[in-house]
Amino acid sequence: MKLWSGRFSKNTDKTVDDFNSSIRFDSRMVRQDIKGSMAHAEMLGKCNVISEEDARLIVNTLTEILDDIENDKVSFDPKAEDIHMYVEQMLIERIGDIGKKLHTGRSRNDQVALDIRLYLKDECRLIKNMIVGLMDTVLKTAKDHVKTIMPGYTHLQRAQPITFGHHMMAYFQMFQRDTERLDDCVKRMDQMPLGSGALAATTYPLDRYYVAQKLGFSDITRNSMDGVSDRDFVIELASVLSIFMMHISRMSEEIILWASKEFSFIELDDAYSTGSSIMPQKKNPDVAELARGKTGRMYGNLMTLLSVMKSLPLAYNKDMQEDKEAIFDSIDTVKMCIPAFTGMLSTMKVNKKNMLDATGAGFTNATDLADYLTVKGISFRNAHEITGKLVGYCVEKGLRIEELDLDVLKSFSVLIEEDIYEAIRPETCVNRRNIPGGPAYEAVMETIREAEQYLKKIHDY
Ligand code: ARG
Repeated sequence: MKLWSGRFSKNTDKTVDDFNSSIRFDSRMVRQDIKGSMAHAEMLGKCNVISEEDARLIVNTLTEILDDIENDKVSFDPKAEDIHMYVEQMLIERIGDIGKKLHTGRSRNDQVALDIRLYLKDECRLIKNMIVGLMDTVLKTAKDHVKTIMPGYTHLQRAQPITFGHHMMAYFQMFQRDTERLDDCVKRMDQMPLGSGALAATTYPLDRYYVAQKLGFSDITRNSMDGVSDRDFVIELASVLSIFMMHISRMSEEIILWASKEFSFIELDDAYSTGSSIMPQKKNPDVAELARGKTGRMYGNLMTLLSVMKSLPLAYNKDMQEDKEAIFDSIDTVKMCIPAFTGMLSTMKVNKKNMLDATGAGFTNATDLADYLTVKGISFRNAHEITGKLVGYCVEKGLRIEELDLDVLKSFSVLIEEDIYEAIRPETCVNRRNIPGGPAYEAVMETIREAEQYLKKIHDY
């Protein structure tokens, strides 16, 4: 019999039961559901809404149920409507009528709002730790390669020399923002909704702050209607995780390119690559490809959540049950992706020689030649023009700028002297870009020190 069946004269149709039930996906919030109920029962006793003795029996029985769950002694009845009903049903089976007092001053609407907040807060902490682990690896790779010269690209065309360390630190910045966005999103999850009731709070004198403090919330929700119908924090998390995976997909794309024969900048470890069932020579970057591909479902989940919430009248509507599968899928996807991706990154080999060769072959020092002429007194526009002509000449001859003799160089501009060869060496090009945020060794080391401090603070915490 259903706990709400009083006013009904018929059982619900089987198709409705199947359609309505959420236990197959919301049972993962069972711990949060039980902890929330324990705090609620304890508060009911403390506020004399139920007797202290009944409260104690409820809390003790919930503790036993939790133990049984941890010891795998409970199987979730797939026919139960949802995890909230199922836990309450187990409680009533164990202690009868006293168990029926638990739901005093509470609705499943504020209960589910509580459970999802508790659950997502926990998951945000876990995911942040995983991203921090990835950042450790990115930072280590950057440190190993502060002097590894490679071409930087725009339009996927070789542009200017940078270092692989500088390139890696660009991703570090992105992942740092991801962790900051996670922290920020947790702030708005961190409000305790119990006491909102179904939508219009409750007539019982509940101590909401007590429950909030018991459950580790720093605040309570401020409006009972918003308290049960707000899912902004779910959408925010889906968005934060989508942005994170967008970063992962960009890095994946680069790894896929770099691992190709055409680039040959890196080689992925055998443990993080896969073979082809038909082509024996193949070694494929599946981890990076799948990470790139899974970014799509993250955006899908975000769209699902935005669409579910669109135009919903206040307060709770059953539509909102649809929030869970989407956000759980985003969480599961990210948690599966990060360890494989981090492992792939930490084991890949970097081919410094090919990176340097590509830098030289791509006229990535052309801007530096123009800068050289500008410093010698002509306008940058004219210097740009002269350098362009010189590059055109090199393309025709199949030579690099630094391979031209001084008198050939001088035929393009008399301002060019012997010191040009030093000025357009890739190392010079990189290390002269020594302003904060630049690719020069000193500048990158500065960001590495900052990054170390950022991570240290999180690790110490
Ligand atoms: N399973 C529901 C959900 O996930 C719980 C809340 C149901 N409340 C209700 N009045 N039907 O949203």
